[in-house]
Order: sequence, then C-alpha cells, then structure tokens
Amino acid sequence: MDNNIKSILITGGAGFIGSNFLNYFVPKRKDYFFINLDKLTYAGNLENLANLENQENYSFYKGDIINSELVNYLMAKHDINMIINFAAESHVDRSILGSEEFIRTNVLGTNVLLEAAKKYRIEKYLQVSTDEVYGSLGSTGLFTELSPLEPSSPYSASKASADLIAGSYFRTHKLPVCITRCSNNYGPYQFPEKLIPLMIINALNDRKLPVYGDGMNVRDWIHVDDHSRAIMTVLENGVPGETYNIGSSNEQNNLFIVKTILNLLGKSENLIEYVKDRPGHDRRYAIDPAKTHKELGWKAEVEFEKGLADTVKWYLSNRGWWGRILNNEYLLYYNQQYGNRN
Ligand code: NAD
Ligand code: DAU
Repeated sequence: MDNNIKSILITGGAGFIGSNFLNYFVPKRKDYFFINLDKLTYAGNLENLANLENQENYSFYKGDIINSELVNYLMAKHDINMIINFAAESHVDRSILGSEEFIRTNVLGTNVLLEAAKKYRIEKYLQVSTDEVYGSLGSTGLFTELSPLEPSSPYSASKASADLIAGSYFRTHKLPVCITRCSNNYGPYQFPEKLIPLMIINALNDRKLPVYGDGMNVRDWIHVDDHSRAIMTVLENGVPGETYNIGSSNEQNNLFIVKTILNLLGKSENLIEYVKDRPGHDRRYAIDPAKTHKELGWKAEVEFEKGLADTVKWYLSNRGWWGRILNNEYLLYYNQQYGNRN
C-alpha cells in the first residue's frame, strides 16, 4: 500500500454514528484506508453502508471488539495507524433491562482495543464517548470537560468506566488517547428505539407516542453530520490526553420534540401518551463546546429546525429500511417494554 495512506480501524461502523462517519469520509478521504470491525448486533446494519461497496479505501470485517485475537490480527494485517472506537451498546433503556452486554462491550471491549493500540504503538486512539457520563444538570449550568463524572444508568456508567481506562492508558503508557463527549445525535439511519426515530415511526403508523414522565427532560440535540466532522477534527488535531465536548447548544425538552414531529407529519397531539418515567432518568443535559471551538476550530453547522425536518423526510422516504427492522427485532423489544402500557 502507498506509504502516504494511513489505516484507521473503525469499530461499530455499521451503527448509526459510525456509518454516518464512514459514508461521509470514505468517498472524500482517499488518504485514509478505513477498516470497519462490527459485530452486527441488533443495531448494526450493513444496509447503512450500501454506498461504500465499491470504494477501494474501505473494507468490512464482522467480529467482536472483545476478540483480542481478531483485533490483533487486523492491527497487523492492515498496519493500523489509528483507532476510532464507536462500538458500544448504546441504549439507556436496554441497559436498565440488563447491563451485562454493556459492561462486556463498552468496558471490556474498550480495554481490548486499548491493549492492541499499546502493543502496536499507534498514532491516535479516539474513544467516542457521551455527555451522559456527566450525569444530570439542574435547570442551569453546562457540562464542561472538567465536570465530574456522575453517570446515572448502567449504560452511562459503562461509558464512564471506558473513559477512565482510556485516560489511564494515556497517563501510564503514554498512548495518544483523545476522548470526545457528544450530546444527543439525530439524523438518518438512527435505530428506531431512540426518541426521534421512534416517535416519527409511531406517528406514521398512528401508534401511541410514549413520553416518559412529564416530558420536560431536556436534551442538547446535534445533527450526526456535525458529530462526524467533529470526530475527524479531533482524530487529526486533538491533543493526546485531552477530552473534547461536542455539542451544538441546542437544548429542547422532549415534549417540544414530539409535538414538532407530529406537526411536521400533520398528525394529532392526541397520539401522545404519558407513560411511567425511566428509572434514574437524567433531567437535563447541556454541553459547553467552547474548548473544541477555540482549540480545534470545529463548530456545528446544521441548524436544528432544518435538520429535524430533513430527518423526518428521510424516514418518510426510507420506509423499507425501518420496515425491515420493525419486522425483525424492534417489535419484540417494543412489546417487551411497552406491551403492558398501551
Ligand atoms: P448504535 O447502537 O447505533 O451502533 C453501535 C454499533 O456498534 C452497531 O453497529 C453494533 O453492531 C456495534 N457493536 C456493538 N457491540 C459490538 C462489539 N462487541 N463489537 C463490535 N461491534 C459492536 O450506536 P450509535 O448511536 O451509533 O453510537 C455510537 C457511539 O457513539 C457509541 O459509543 C455511543 O456511546 C456514542 N454516542 C452516541 C450518541 C447518540 O446520541 N447516539 C451520542 C454521544 C455518543
Ligand atoms: O446524550 C447522549 C446520549 O443520547 C447517547 O450517549 C446515547 O447513546 C443515546 O441513546 C442518547 O441517550 P438518551 O437516553 O438521552 O436518548 P433517548 O433517545 O433514549 O431518549 C431521549 C429522551 O427522550 C430521554 O429524556 C428519554 C425520552 N424518551 C425516550 C424514549 C425512547 C421518551 O420520553 N420516550 C421514549 O420512548
């Protein structure tokens, strides 16, 4: 291979954010070879990557990040220079139903990748983390990179654990680790268990829209394209050992999101159903992205109103994509969770 081309191991590249990153950068960045390692859990979907089939700077391996033999094989075979770890169990409600897979993939899997990164002395290891590691805010204040880690759910606790281990590899082994902590993403190809796609699809099917508690929990929404651009910026310019918050300063309560979706689809607000609150439900997330703006020059570009309207349109035009998911896994999960509520 051309010596000027760098190899990046992308884990979890068949999920929502990983596939957005690959679809965005594989065609644009021929100076990188992208190796995607994904276990294809319920959330991984090769349909998301159909456009990359003929790209010569991309290859896919089905496998588990916890499999150190496989990870080490890929490190050597592709002479990996960098790792971006997107792979995770990512849904809070699932982690409340059972945490084992979350600890396995998010904690032990991350450790396997860090060990391989150390062994092969790579140039950069990027741990894709989340603002949920900071826990919940009251009605004022913002999360900065110095906010304490106070995770509430087994999911966020597993992500916080991974962050701490990644940080230890920087301090102890001088591994060039960066951590990104992003707020709630939305956009195409998001699995219909998360708030926005779930509400769009339920509304389209005239099913109830289950709003937890009083609907006043606040999330700080960012378009997934902006997150992908931020990750590339941190990969290329982030200072080893540093953590970077990623957000677009766009706080919205859940009820506002749900009503906006109903309005965009011309559906009645009578579809809203208030259901039992999520246990340990974080009240408010809000990211201060000033450090990433100032030190790396990245800024979110997608305006929320347009981004949400485009996302709704995408789900309207891609019924096949989510229809196939509904037929498989999702209905089972939905009934398990809400079967006794609706
Ligand atoms: P996702 O659930 O859509 O995708 C996760 C991907 O990881 C899937 O393709 C799945 O098959 C793969 N995977 C799971 N376990 C694996 C394993 N053991 N080995 C290999 N692959 C495995 O998740 P997402 O929303 O795309 O999130 C990606 C990353 O970004 C996660 O680390 C998540 O914590 C983080 N994050 C997500 C958000 C958000 O709003 N979705 C915000 C901030 C950070
Ligand atoms: O903040 C970043 C995090 O955002 C990521 O780390 C997680 O991977 C991602 O899943 C997301 O976590 P949230 O718990 O914030 O997202 P979720 O879409 O599950 O829920 C958003 C809000 O909507 C939350 O307050 C719970 C509420 N909700 C969610 C669902 C699925 C409802 O009211 N009803 C629902 O049916």
